[in-house]
Amino acid sequence: MVNPMTTAELSALTSNDSRILDRVQALLEQGQVSDAMSLLFAELGRLQRQLEPGEWDRFVQDVILPHPVLELVHQAPLCRHSFEQPRGYPGDAELIDYLYGLREPENASAVGSTIHDWCFGRAPVRGVRHRREWLASILDEEAARLDGKARVLSVACGHLREGRLSGAFCSGWFEEVVALDADASSLAVARASQPELVTPIQLSVARLPNRAKRLGTFDLIYSAGLYDYLEDELAHRLTASLFSLLRAGGRLVVGNFLAGVADSSFMEAFMGWKLFYRTREQIEGLLVQAPSEEIGELSFHQDPYGVFGYVTARRTFP
Ligand SMILES: C[S@@+](CC[C@H](N)C(=O)[O-])C[C@H]1O[C@@H](n2cnc3c(N)ncnc32)[C@H](O)[C@@H]1O
Repeated sequence: MVNPMTTAELSALTSNDSRILDRVQALLEQGQVSDAMSLLFAELGRLQRQLEPGEWDRFVQDVILPHPVLELVHQAPLCRHSFEQPRGYPGDAELIDYLYGLREPENASAVGSTIHDWCFGRAPVRGVRHRREWLASILDEEAARLDGKARVLSVACGHLREGRLSGAFCSGWFEEVVALDADASSLAVARASQPELVTPIQLSVARLPNRAKRLGTFDLIYSAGLYDYLEDELAHRLTASLFSLLRAGGRLVVGNFLAGVADSSFMEAFMGWKLFYRTREQIEGLLVQAPSEEIGELSFHQDPYGVFGYVTARRTFP
């Protein structure tokens, strides 16, 4: 437990860290993007570890947001998009398209484009790309397990980009893929990727537990890029509710950012992207309200970058 700092200690620290931001700004202005960004990421991580959550929030508000370095970093389209939240909430599917490399950093300045590329190579962004490929492989596995008769639910589907990487999805080898999201424009893109197969449902997951039964039952239910926004109470209730929709032998997969991801300080301060990070135990514990006698098999998967953890549970009936 860190002792809270006095106002004098905090202002001494922050004036020192303000000088680091000046240094990062100077390096960016000289085009030394890699040095600037490495310094920025390292110093932000160090500072956030040193401060209490309230002190860190004050530092972001009082020191980072007014500093000219923010505007420089926001010349990178993925950082600006994330910070400005044009869809009205953080982590929208257009941002994820930048991370997948499906959207180019058009009209960016030279420095903005270089920052964009530098961020594109960071572990969390690689973890997002791994997530897409891994979800596509799960779609193919479940399609093969049920010889093209599987019914699938993608929760918080965004643009459902994993579909394009799945041979089964591209060839329509499913009974149905139900794509659920709160955002109508994301659902339109998801549906357009396979109109014969995809049934869009616009619904907030906060309301899903009360309406779950209306969705029917599924052989595969998965959710990635959602739980990082959910408090434990809703996360646990939602997971139990999704588990109850599984058919016998069906599989539920839920992913979350892992605790300890080094880039979280930058994501919070410069991208306005504040998430709930969970340990392996907490991710496995998402199933705490599901009936344990019906969980036939529980496994954990982690990407090679240590960024995302996924719990998988198969349902058996006792
Ligand atoms: C980070 S994207 C993830 C998209 C996709 N699943 C993926 O793996 O790339 C998060 C998605 O969650 C959706 N979302 C966020 N909060 C939601 C909620 N309360 N109910 C339903 N969808 C939500 C957003 O609309 C967005 O499309």
